[in-house]
Amino acid sequence: MTDSLFDLSGRVAVVTGGMGQLGAELCVALAAREMRVAILDVETEPRAGAAGLRTGLDEGTIQAHACDVTDRGAVEAALALVEVDWGVPELLVNAAGLDSPPDAPAAEVGPFEDVPLDALERVVHVNVLGVVVPCQVIGGAMARAGRGSIVNVGSIYGMLSPDQSLYDFRREAGETFFKPVAYSVSKSSLVNLTRYLATYWGRSGVRVNTLTPHGIENGQPEAFVDAFAERSPLGRLMDASEAVGAVVFLASDASSYVTGANIVVDGGWSAW
Ligand SMILES: NC(=O)c1ccc[n+]([C@@H]2O[C@H](COP(=O)([O-])OP(=O)(O)OC[C@H]3O[C@@H](n4cnc5c(N)ncnc54)[C@H](O)[C@@H]3O)[C@@H](O)[C@H]2O)c1
Repeated sequence: MTDSLFDLSGRVAVVTGGMGQLGAELCVALAAREMRVAILDVETEPRAGAAGLRTGLDEGTIQAHACDVTDRGAVEAALALVEVDWGVPELLVNAAGLDSPPDAPAAEVGPFEDVPLDALERVVHVNVLGVVVPCQVIGGAMARAGRGSIVNVGSIYGMLSPDQSLYDFRREAGETFFKPVAYSVSKSSLVNLTRYLATYWGRSGVRVNTLTPHGIENGQPEAFVDAFAERSPLGRLMDASEAVGAVVFLASDASSYVTGANIVVDGGWSAW
């Protein structure tokens, strides 16, 4: 049986950061549910191993638009192309984001007191303005159309402080490593951006929610995987596919009375 409550067929989705690990997983899952999916990403090619995304791009159920999501003109131009082909999107998933990579410069992952402000600014710029701008442009179009759903991808580190002891293995290896504050402050701001927009567009038919995932499995060092598992009620990292259910729910009519919420998909991390 097709469940009309969760039926997304024929609807249009925009996924920012769709070339990334989580974004690609969501694009493929939404296309499999017969959505037409447009990716806005600075990257235009799928990473190695993203076979489902490659197929979707080749078959045209998924489009890729080269776009820096902090650039309003670029987002407007991408939306105009999507609208010509498919019309005003029904779903916007803001998954583009920056974290400090494992090989980030020492100062960026050093003690809080010494974190260079330009490093902080770079992450906040993408993680906050890179959500605000697509909301302005695409959310604005949705509001004018009188319907839509926006999912802002946050992080558990936007709700809770990082447990710095998770990274003891790096300090034991001689590094001075702290999970940087930039990621936390930028992701926490999304929780309230979501609430702001949920009320701002409440009467316009546009719902806005946060999705808060935590710890997606991505070939991390064994010491990290073990430390994470010890602290996780479910005893493991998350598979990227485990975010799909929440996004399908938030995209569909099943969540018609859900706005301003934060759907936490953290394996119970925040439960103790
Ligand atoms: N991986 C995790 O464990 C995890 C956990 C919690 C939350 N998240 C969040 O999920 C989202 C996706 O994470 P991911 O692990 O797939 O990361 P990722 O690095 O694999 O993907 C991020 C994508 O965003 C794109 N991007 C970066 N800056 C951009 C810009 N200015 N304009 C357009 N595109 C840009 C990148 O090119 C990349 O394709 C992020 O917001 C991240 O903070 C990830």
